[in-house]
Formats: sequence, C-alpha cells, structure tokens
Amino acid sequence: MNPFRRKGSFGSSLPFAKHPGHGGRRSGNLSIFVVVFSVFIFAAFMYNEDVKSIAEFPFSRPKSQELAPRHVPDPTPMEDSSSRSVDGAAAPMVKKKDEKKKKTKEKQSSPEPAQEAQRQEELNNLKIFLTDGEGGGSGGDGKQGIQLPEEKAAHEVYPPVDAVPETCDLFTGSWVYDEVTHPLYREEECEFLTEQVTCMRNGRRDDMYQKWRWQPRDCSLPRFDARLLLERLRGKRLMFVGDSLNRNQWESMICLVQSVVPPGRKSLTKNGSLSIFRIDDYNATVEFYWAPFLVESNSDDPTMHSILDRIIMPESIAKHGEHWKGVHYLVFNSYIWWMNTPNMKVLRGSFDEGSTEVDEIGRPIAYERVLRTWAKWVDENVDTRRTSVFFVSMSPLHIKSVDWNNPDGIKCAKETSPVLNMTTQLNVGTDRRMLVVAANVTGSMRLPVALLNITTLSEYRKDAHTSVHTIRQGKLLTPEQQADPAVYADCIHWCLPGLPDTWNEFLYARMVSRPPFPRA
Ligand SMILES: *[C@@H]1O[C@H](CO)[C@@H](O)[C@H](O)[C@H]1NC(C)=O
Ligand SMILES: *[C@@H]1O[C@H](CO)[C@@H](O)[C@H](O)[C@H]1NC(C)=O
Ligand SMILES: *[C@@H]1O[C@H](CO)[C@@H](O)[C@H](O)[C@H]1NC(C)=O
Ligand SMILES: *[C@@H]1O[C@H](CO)[C@@H](O)[C@H](O)[C@H]1NC(C)=O
Ligand SMILES: *[C@@H]1O[C@H](CO)[C@@H](O)[C@H](O)[C@H]1NC(C)=O
Repeated sequence: MNPFRRKGSFGSSLPFAKHPGHGGRRSGNLSIFVVVFSVFIFAAFMYNEDVKSIAEFPFSRPKSQELAPRHVPDPTPMEDSSSRSVDGAAAPMVKKKDEKKKKTKEKQSSPEPAQEAQRQEELNNLKIFLTDGEGGGSGGDGKQGIQLPEEKAAHEVYPPVDAVPETCDLFTGSWVYDEVTHPLYREEECEFLTEQVTCMRNGRRDDMYQKWRWQPRDCSLPRFDARLLLERLRGKRLMFVGDSLNRNQWESMICLVQSVVPPGRKSLTKNGSLSIFRIDDYNATVEFYWAPFLVESNSDDPTMHSILDRIIMPESIAKHGEHWKGVHYLVFNSYIWWMNTPNMKVLRGSFDEGSTEVDEIGRPIAYERVLRTWAKWVDENVDTRRTSVFFVSMSPLHIKSVDWNNPDGIKCAKETSPVLNMTTQLNVGTDRRMLVVAANVTGSMRLPVALLNITTLSEYRKDAHTSVHTIRQGKLLTPEQQADPAVYADCIHWCLPGLPDTWNEFLYARMVSRPPFPRA
C-alpha cells in the first residue's frame, strides 16, 4: 500500500503558518524559514513513518546546488483522494447527453499507445477551449488625454539593487512554497481580470497554487516593483503578441502594474486584434495583439476563430507586423494552435487571392519556417537601440493525470500542488522539437532575442490551470459542467494570480536589469 495514500482532509484549512508583517523577501527570509519549518513539521506529522524521507522533503529553499534535494517525494499522493467533493466527483453526476466526444475509459494499466491515442483525442478537442475567453475584459473608464507628472520618481534606479546578471539561467531552479511574497496581487483587487482566469471567484476552493515562487538555482529573481517597471515603461509600449496563453500573460502583467495606478488613470480598450491597457500618468501601454501563428492564418479573427481546419501562410507576416512597429518591448509566443494535428496545412498562394490549395507539412518544419519568417521581420524592422524582443516558449498542457503518476486524477482537475520531484523531466506531451527550433532561431538572430524558457518549469505546475473554474463559449461553467471535469476541465490556460505571474517575473527581471533606452 502506498503510505501517502491515506491522508485526511487537505482543504482550505491548511496548517501552513501565516506571517503577516514581513513584507519584502529580504526581510522575509526568517519568515520563509518559519514557513518551511511549519511545513516540515506538518510533513513530519504526515509522513512520520518515514523520517528519512523527511530530511529530503522538497519544500525547502535550496541555498545552493548541493543542498538541492536529490530524491524528493512526489507530493502527488498528498492530494486527498477522498476529498472528491471539491471537484464534484461526489456531487450528483449529470449524465452527458449530446457530448461532443466520447470519453474513453481510463485504464490505469493502459499501454503507451493507448495513452498516446487518448492524448491525441484530447488534443483534437482543444478548439473547445481555444475559442473561449475572447469576451471583453471588464473594461476601464475610457479615460482620454495624457498628463505626465513633471518629475520622475525616485524609483528610477539603474541597475536595481537586485538586478540579475544576463548570464544567469533563470529557468533552472525549483518551486518554493512562499506565501509571504506570493501571490504578487489579489484576484479581487484586479478589476481587469477576465472571467476566464478568476478561479477563486469561479468557485475554486484551494489557493495554494497562488503561493509558489520560482527560485532559480544560480541567482534570485528581483522582487517585483510595479513602480520601477512603470518608470521603465514611461512613454513606451509593451506588447504581447501571440495566442491565448500570451493573452493570459498579458492579463497577468496588467494586474502586476495596475495596483499602483490610481482609479481613473488607467483604462482597457479593445479594437479588433489589438487590446490596449493605458496608464495615463506614465504615457505607457501594455498591449496584446492576437496572432496565434504569428504569421497570417485563417485563425486571425480575434473573435471568430473557431476553425478546425487551420491553414497558415508561413512566409506572410507583414500585415500583422505593421501593428508591432515602433513598440519598445515585444513579447512573442506561438504554440497551442499548432497542437491539434501532427501536420500543418500551408496555403499555396494567399487568402486575399482566394487560394484554397494546401500542402500538409510536418509540425516542426512548418514551425521553423514561421519562426524564420518572424526572425527576418524582427531583424529588418526592429531598432536594437530602442527595442527589446522576447520569445516565450511553449506553455504545457496537463490532460492525462497518469503523466504524473496519479491514476485517480481527472485531467488536471484534482491537482492542488505542483510536481516537486524534479529528478526526471516530466512527459506531459509537450512537443519539445518546437523548443529546439525556437532556441535555434532566437539564438541565430542579428538582434539578440531573449528566449523565456518557461516550458519545463511550467510542466511541474499541474495545479495551476483554470480547470473547471472558468468559462466556455463566453459563459461560466454551470455546476453540472463543473461536476464533469473529464469533459469540461480546461487544462491549457492558467488561473490568475498564478503561474503567468512567474513568467512576467522573468520578463521583469530582464527588463529592469538592462540599461534603459535608448542604448548606445
Ligand atoms: C522521483 O521520480 C523518479 C522518476 O519517476 C523516481 O524514480 C523516484 O523514485 C522519485 N522519487 C521519489 C522520492 O518519489
Ligand atoms: C529550458 O529550461 C530547462 C530547465 O527549466 C532546461 O532543462 C532546458 O534545457 C532549457 N531549454 C533551452 C532550449 O534552453
Ligand atoms: C507617449 O508615448 C508615445 C509612445 O508610446 C510617444 O510616441 C509619445 O510622444 C508620448 N507622448 C508624450 C506626451 O510624451
Ligand atoms: C481600430 O483600429 C483600426 C485599424 O487598426 C483603426 O482604423 C480604428 O480607428 C480603430 N478604432 C478605434 C475606435 O480606435
Ligand atoms: C540550427 O539551425 C541551423 C540552420 O540555421 C542548422 O544547421 C542547425 O543544425 C540547427 N541546430 C539545431 C540544434 O537544430
């Protein structure tokens, strides 16, 4: 019998100590220690039959590499398999009537090919989730006119005290439970969050997913300072370009900066593919541009893009690119829309000419063609002295709980903690060939483009998806739908506050650690 499998309720009354009054991370080290110690005691309580493994319990913050846990227990089994009511499994099950897909029975002993087949089936149904969330944000006050404060704040310090060296690999490290410094903002304090991501408001009970901090192995991420970032953005534009995961990150960035902007001095407007969050007093914008393949495609309409048969024009980027010119910070991504089919349909000719003939090309080949087109555009249109360009790698999915050895799971729906056993890389079905392409292309450009390699570290965050606490086709899931996570859980997008905040911490670290524009 698995010794972890017998634990009692793990709901909202977690025994983690709270430590108000310790704000910053620097002064919070003691608090973190106390938290870690409390967790340790808790762990000792839970796993008292195996004291040896406690010495290697993974909640501690590794001070250096040799302290990093080598064989840490995977906390997955901590999740109480008897607390199903949280996820609705004990609630009255509503029989599916006209299901779009038939769920194959979970077989714990199913061989690899069957798992792969199911994964493919899940991927084929991605479009259900991808079409969501295009509805308007709760939006701003439409304030017009720009008024600049006369003086720059004392915050403008370069480099900031805790700047990270450009050479530090931010993406190798570990997740640390740290409710002292995280979340970086509160869900209810950010009026700009869309219903797609407000998991707590949508009924999620556990909130541990908001409290994990990413700790790079070789340096520390700077403490997020919204004013410092706004100084960096003064008179400038920051734009996220890509798919709904990049929009997820854009929403996070809005919340990260908006808390220090008084009411009435900020607004959110949407116009076609472009959404703009304005911060009046800084004449700064945080924007999102919808281009799920970066290049032209038949999925470019920001609202009507529920297209099963995706077709791209891998060498056509100028139309979209027009909207990116002159932007000072560009953050690109493109992944999820590639995952429906193993091959990509490439148009012969152009949509404008009414062409319909397509060639089917292997995913990584087509992806490389697209990224080469994108890289050429960047190299030809971006002024290195006044622009920084970032590329965000693939955001992973968690659609098969056996991927993290939880045969009792239902997609990501029952997960309340990350995978903390990092001795081996998790295989959740991410197409890593695309990371190889992205690393190769970004590494060979004239303009240095920073690859934000979020993929592996996000693969551990099976707990952080919106799951059933989200919308579908513009509407909040009904209780009946919430009770059927096998069909309705969205294990693609992420709750906010949550994981995308960490992605923005990487972005922030790079932005504030570099000299301000214009550069020599
Ligand atoms: C961590 O995962 C590896 C590979 O799946 C496994 O061999 C090892 O036993 C795990 N460690 C713990 C402590 O569970
Ligand atoms: C991305 O980061 C992971 C660690 O999080 C690392 O193992 C991997 O090699 C990195 N990939 C690239 C292309 O940098
Ligand atoms: C506001 O910022 C834009 C760039 O985003 C710049 O072109 C414009 O000159 C700025 N306006 C003022 C008044 O500084
Ligand atoms: C929306 O964008 C289009 C073109 O991108 C522009 O012509 C139009 O003026 C914009 N509308 C508003 C209300 O800003
Ligand atoms: C990177 O791209 C170049 C061509 O631009 C190719 O020769 C090389 O093999 C690629 N490297 C990898 C690791 O894919």
